[in-house]
Amino acid sequence: MVCIGNICRSPMAEYILKNKIKHKQLNWHIASAGVENYHIGEGAYPIALKVAASYNIDMQSHRASHFTQNDFDKYDKIYAFADDVYHRIIAQIRNEKDKLKVDYFLNEANPSSNASVTDPWYHDEDMYHAVFQQIDEVCDIILEKYKD
Ligand code: 4NP
Repeated sequence: MVCIGNICRSPMAEYILKNKIKHKQLNWHIASAGVENYHIGEGAYPIALKVAASYNIDMQSHRASHFTQNDFDKYDKIYAFADDVYHRIIAQIRNEKDKLKVDYFLNEANPSSNASVTDPWYHDEDMYHAVFQQIDEVCDIILEKYKD
């Protein structure tokens, strides 16, 4: 799960999906990162933390990290949360195999839409709720699609 700062959108997705697979026998390693290094080592943004907690998603242990080329080796799927993020990831691919791993997160709900999850950073708490709910729906789709 990759966004810009790794303090709002991608941590929500990481912790939502981790929560959904908690009682399932799935050997998934789910993580998140940002393409910018502004917030590395910081916890989730307080509004994101609070909104996630209101849905019983605990993101207290999150620490922001930076997307690196090693992530192409560690993960089978790399979800970009926005158009700019997608292009920043694609700029780091080493080969076609890397490229095939990268997709827009929202393409799991609307294939080929190449749509972005709204960056809630400049918005109020209501937007964090909307973003949370959108991410939650897509995580359900991902779980259904890849669980078997
Ligand atoms: P995120 O939100 O990419 O969902 O974590 C942002 C967080 C911080 C910034 C931008 C987006 N920033 O510019 O610092």
